[in-house]
Amino acid sequence: MRRLIFATNNKHKVTEVRAALSSIDDIEIVTLAEAGLEGEIPETADTLHGNAHQKALWVWERTHTDCFADDTGLEVDALGGAPGVYSARYAGPHCSFDDNIDKLLANLHGKENRKAHFRTVICLIEGHSQSLPTTHYFEGRVDGQILTSRHSNGQGFGYDPLFMPDRFALSFAEMPLQLKNTISHRALAVKKLKDYLLNS
Ligand code: IMP
Repeated sequence: MRRLIFATNNKHKVTEVRAALSSIDDIEIVTLAEAGLEGEIPETADTLHGNAHQKALWVWERTHTDCFADDTGLEVDALGGAPGVYSARYAGPHCSFDDNIDKLLANLHGKENRKAHFRTVICLIEGHSQSLPTTHYFEGRVDGQILTSRHSNGQGFGYDPLFMPDRFALSFAEMPLQLKNTISHRALAVKKLKDYLLNS
């Protein structure tokens, strides 16, 4: 069985990734806690690639076990790509999802161009202590529009109530989770990771 540490303790992400990779028989996805890793992983890079790499490397340096990390941002055209890599803390260091949504709505007030996309970058590091590790990146992107107010059935998280993906008339927070999980940025990045693992 191949052990792959996922640099997260976020239960939703782990469930989503385990489900997406479940058809690969010989892979076991292990969380940070299950791998016995404690402490805050630094996320101080100024790109999604940089943060994903920083998190995966933190794990690899401590375990010398194959591992991967993800980083996601919402990139809004009219705001020059903001909040981007700062999506989680757009409204400040300890802000809530609601604070971030309020700030985004305020910054887009009166703007006609509502185009935006979510982008997820996964960094996979493979290698053991005797060999130099190799690094691979997998990127998923979903394009859409930022709505002028919240649209939600209570599903989803983060910016979901404001994001309507192209070709759909529902926000991410209104659509069934199963549907979001087939078209989302994260799903597309995980699909590329899966294709790589199946062929490597
Ligand atoms: P992370 O890198 O996956 O932790 O994502 C960083 C931030 O991007 C989160 O705190 C959310 O604000 C936002 N985000 C990531 N994925 C999604 C999503 O699927 N829907 C809405 N917001 C998201």
